[in-house]
Amino acid sequence: MGARALQELLGIGHPIVLAPFGGVSSIELTTTVTELGGLGSYGLYGYGPDRIRETVDALRAASSGPFALNLWLPTGDEVTPADVDLACSSAATAVAPLFAELGLDRPQSPERFLPSFDDQLDAVLDARPAALSLVFGVPAPDVVERAHTRGIAVVGTATTVAEAVALADGGVDVVVATGAEGAGHRVSFLRPAEESLVGTFALLPQVVDAVDVPVVAAGGVADRRGVAAAFALGASGVQVGTAFLATRQSAASDAYRAAIASAAADSSVLTRAMSGRLARGLPNRAVRTIEDAGAIAPFPAQNWLTGQFRAEAGRRGVGDLQSLWMGQAAGLSHEDDAAAVFAELLAGVPDAARSA
Ligand SMILES: Cc1cc2nc3c(=O)[nH]c(=O)nc-3n(C[C@H](O)[C@H](O)[C@H](O)COP(=O)(O)O)c2cc1C
Repeated sequence: MGARALQELLGIGHPIVLAPFGGVSSIELTTTVTELGGLGSYGLYGYGPDRIRETVDALRAASSGPFALNLWLPTGDEVTPADVDLACSSAATAVAPLFAELGLDRPQSPERFLPSFDDQLDAVLDARPAALSLVFGVPAPDVVERAHTRGIAVVGTATTVAEAVALADGGVDVVVATGAEGAGHRVSFLRPAEESLVGTFALLPQVVDAVDVPVVAAGGVADRRGVAAAFALGASGVQVGTAFLATRQSAASDAYRAAIASAAADSSVLTRAMSGRLARGLPNRAVRTIEDAGAIAPFPAQNWLTGQFRAEAGRRGVGDLQSLWMGQAAGLSHEDDAAAVFAELLAGVPDAARSA
């Protein structure tokens, strides 16, 4: 797959993708990357259709360039409030001290943990972004078809070669190959995440060999060396999370950005503590408290439960009680400005893949 195929498909000048951050994307960071000629992504996890429409309006008000909207596909095993008595659960008891510390009452279960995926999808398709990026599965044929009818490219995300092949067979236009060193959730869908922990360096060339669509490398890419390595291994682009999250344009709290700035290669761990699904982040006091208690509700109940104190901790700048997702390359994140991160990454893009 030629290096320029990705850029032509997405209408971007440079093959650099800002990662979507469910819950932490910001209009400013997304549109900054788009304005610089990359593809700004925005994570819509947990957003209902009205909030999606408001977000798209804000993105379009700030930039007329292309952007990607990211959704989590339903996997069918998500629990609902009817399935778990969260208020009386051991998971709620485990986090009770964290609620008390912030002066919060123990929460009552909501009507639903997540908005309907179909409603989210309708809002995203109506918005006609350049790309619909998806995690946790292969989109159904009608999702791909509806996106394509509207001129929207479909991006799927793979943690193994088999997942990449399944995505390509399912008609996606681009595969993001995401290695286990990356920040946030392991988005595996064919086998358990714990059995799908392939590093970017091993995963990427094997995915490139296995599929005929452009492959974007994610996980551990934070500077020009990572970008050059990804292209040497056959990538058509890179998707970068942690390094951009550390910048002042991101929606991460000051405490979060400071935690990234002081992190080392071995600072992060994989844990189910914060959401019920496996994710890479800093083992702060919230993670340790929950893991020590050994009581974690299934996804998305656990994510909703911890979200009740995380939101307040975010407002107060208490890093120890937030989800501090970050990847193993966090120690390379020195820049506070997204344009400087972008310039650094661009320096690693081979000439043939650069916009004139
Ligand atoms: C706070 C945070 C939230 C994330 N949420 C999502 C998400 O909702 N959807 C998604 O596809 N990827 C999500 N990711 C993963 C990133 O898109 C990206 O693949 C990852 O950060 C790349 O690894 P790096 O951090 O080493 O650059 C998230 C990452 C972080 C740090």
